Amino acid sequence: MTFDKKTLLVPVGDDDGLRAAASMLRSGELVIFPTETVYGLGASALDARAAYDVFEAKGRPHDNPLIVHIAYPEDAEKIAYTTKLYRRLADAFVPGPITIILKKREIIPDEVTAGGNTVGIRCPVHPTAHRFIELSGVPVAAPSANLSGKPSPTRFSHCTDDMMGRVSAIIDGGECDVGLESTVVLLSGEDSLKILRPGGVSRDELLTVCSEVTFAEGLSEGEIPLSPGMKYKHYAPKSPLVLLDGEAQRVKAYVKDRLSSGESCLFICYDEDVSEFPECGISIGGRDDAKSHARRLFAALREADAIGETRRVDVIYSYAPQRGVEGLSPAIYNRLIRAANHTIRRV
Ligand code: TXA
Ligand code: MG
Repeated sequence: MTFDKKTLLVPVGDDDGLRAAASMLRSGELVIFPTETVYGLGASALDARAAYDVFEAKGRPHDNPLIVHIAYPEDAEKIAYTTKLYRRLADAFVPGPITIILKKREIIPDEVTAGGNTVGIRCPVHPTAHRFIELSGVPVAAPSANLSGKPSPTRFSHCTDDMMGRVSAIIDGGECDVGLESTVVLLSGEDSLKILRPGGVSRDELLTVCSEVTFAEGLSEGEIPLSPGMKYKHYAPKSPLVLLDGEAQRVKAYVKDRLSSGESCLFICYDEDVSEFPECGISIGGRDDAKSHARRLFAALREADAIGETRRVDVIYSYAPQRGVEGLSPAIYNRLIRAANHTIRRV
């Protein structure tokens, strides 16, 4: 596969561009589209060769399955065997930032599912994603649209940075609202499920429709990769990321101390802190605004990398995230701890 394709850029609100991109996808080409979680790198999920090309364009190992995006919750039945629990989950959370693993039907080629007999199904709520999938007229296999090993793209510019020349079109949908990838769930029986990857739909929300909700074992430690993607090292910025665990005042004092001892560091911090760290602070929002932390985390990691191209960056510090099971906590914790390669320093 060559990486010198002419890439059509589709601006926000350009419906003709969206139609053109949808017809490209239907005919076997790769198209990047926005969703409420992160941008996806789409191919027709009915086309084995197009699915193969997705892995090549991303530089992703072929044993890590793609999830399949549909326009309406009921379209799941065409590509997988749905269950009562699927329908309960769909009534509550679909369309939305959740991926539900089901037994696949014959129509989905092995290239999409990495040879497995299950398929992850996701129906995005983002209006452009919905329209694009509907116009395509086929289910859309799509991983996150980053190059393998980079943070998932949450802005159009992240997609053009990574993927110009590698895909046939990139559709602009502005900044992704959730900013972290979907919650991936594996159903077991009619009233029990396992979270393989924490995301925008929280454990508490899942508990409103299902009485047993567990996290895959070793999820945060990256031990048992029930979801194949969890076994790969992800999202690591080029400079080492170190999570500082301690009172906010102590964390800030530690970073200031390192700065004055000549260390060239960056500090992923909060709005309340940036005035104290004018040279090295990268804010991900107000201290208590977890939604903003989720939305801006990947962009902050990319920004840290971009700064590292222009000047020396020895280390990137961040507050260690909370370890709770509530709301977005597990999702933010999971992404940060992996980006940091589990490096936590008590201060
Ligand atoms: O929010 C999202 O889920 C985004 C947008 C584009 O929809 N997509 C996304 O795809 O994050 P990807 O491929 O980067 O991550 C999908 C994760 C991987 O960790 C993969 O291993 C897991 O879901 N997965 C996919 N199919 C699976 C299956 N049949 N069984 C278990 N895990 C699966
Ligand atoms: Mg990904």
